[in-house]
Amino acid sequence: MPVHVSQHPLVAHKLAILRDKTTEPKKFRELVRELTWLLGYEAMADLATRPEPIETPLEPMTAARLEPKVGLIPILRAGLGMVDAMLELLPTAEVWHIGLYRDERTLKPVEYYNKLPDAATVQVCLILDPMLATGGSAAATVDILKQWGAARVKQVSLIAAPEGVATLSAAHPDMDIHVAAMDSHLNERGYIVPGLGDAGDRQFGTFAGPESVPGHGPDDETAEVVRRLQRDLKD
Ligand code: PRP
Ligand code: URA
Repeated sequence: MPVHVSQHPLVAHKLAILRDKTTEPKKFRELVRELTWLLGYEAMADLATRPEPIETPLEPMTAARLEPKVGLIPILRAGLGMVDAMLELLPTAEVWHIGLYRDERTLKPVEYYNKLPDAATVQVCLILDPMLATGGSAAATVDILKQWGAARVKQVSLIAAPEGVATLSAAHPDMDIHVAAMDSHLNERGYIVPGLGDAGDRQFGTFAGPESVPGHGPDDETAEVVRRLQRDLKD
């Protein structure tokens, strides 16, 4: 499974400001949008095109048009901030929302919203989620999309942890992952280190006190889940 880590200096620069704990939600949202634009441009670089005859004011020519129908799959809630930038790149894309939250203790994804129609309406799906941590949410989303009939699935995230990439790659070796950065590891609560904290809370300004601070008081069960992922990564 190819993992593409952007090498663009603009991506690195914007990511540095995004990670900074003093960056306020308004600026954070702007940066999520700008980074998504840059990553989306890279993630769509291999989309197929078909020849199409057109006429310029000077003469007829054969131009290229995008071949596949593309679906954007933002994972609620943090993926919402990535939608507008992708739609600027590809205004004809369909947007299909999937609602998942990560159970804080087990770190397993819990599905709460899915209105996909019976059969797939697009060929290529781009999953939009800023954080790829344990990989549980991403793997569950790809399961849903493959069952739906999507021919090709790509994950577009701002930051990934090696544990999450390993999990996703084991479950779905055929997909591409595009990220702005691959970080060091997960902490005992399943947060990406150094990361940026909680991407949903930082976008939407929903800070619920010390309990919501990444790294606060690890639960034994959560820490064991993370240790297991880290053992799997070494094997
Ligand atoms: C975050 C993030 C991903 C998930 C990643 O969402 O946006 O969806 O965690 O973690 P994983 O790789 O370990 O599954 P969260 O559950 O915090 O929900 P939210 O977007 O509603 O805040
Ligand atoms: N979700 C986040 O928002 N941040 C992390 O570091 C892990 C999961």
